[in-house]
Amino acid sequence: MSANIAVFISGSGSNLKALFDAIERGEIDGNIHAVIADRACQGMQYAVSRRIPFFRIDRKLPPDVFAKDVLHVIPKDTDLIILAGFLSILPPAVIQAFPKRIINLHPSLLPKYGGTGMYGLRVHRAVLAAGDECSGCTVHYVDDGVDTGEIIAQAEVPVHSGDDAHHLQKRVQRQEHELLCQTVAALCRQPPFNRNKDFA
Ligand code: GRF
Repeated sequence: MSANIAVFISGSGSNLKALFDAIERGEIDGNIHAVIADRACQGMQYAVSRRIPFFRIDRKLPPDVFAKDVLHVIPKDTDLIILAGFLSILPPAVIQAFPKRIINLHPSLLPKYGGTGMYGLRVHRAVLAAGDECSGCTVHYVDDGVDTGEIIAQAEVPVHSGDDAHHLQKRVQRQEHELLCQTVAALCRQPPFNRNKDFA
């Protein structure tokens, strides 16, 4: 049986779309069975058009209520949770409920340019300000810290002279789609995400 995947989003949903496309091409042995957003966002359309259960949670709720809502909307038979451009911090109760089953995508080569407040264009501006010749993206497990969990995979992206943060963001995002789909495909082939195998 293929892995049941829940995807959390906050933005344009281009990574969610890349996952749907990879599943439709048969590259990922998985099935997105829930999409969850913490705000009204463009990415919702990809769930709605495919008639995938879609849930909206309110990021402005007090943390304990937010945690309860999140736990309530994640289907019980979820194998893998993907934070694909999800901007809220998941409360510890949620992380503890799914140990080593939540992964996040970050648009830099962690541990560089991670942590609270480092998201979107802020990351790319920091890379350019530091004069780095190379940036990239990272898929990592989510732990109680911000962008501190064990790194699963990374891919480098060159910085070109004359780049502004928007140019760099576009180049990194193209690489993110590939890295995320390849990493999810690899995870879905192995336990505990692949339901045909015994749990490790
Ligand atoms: C991605 O660049 C991701 O790294 C970051 O947020 C962005 C979301 O993009 N965490 P999208 O919503 O998947 O298009």
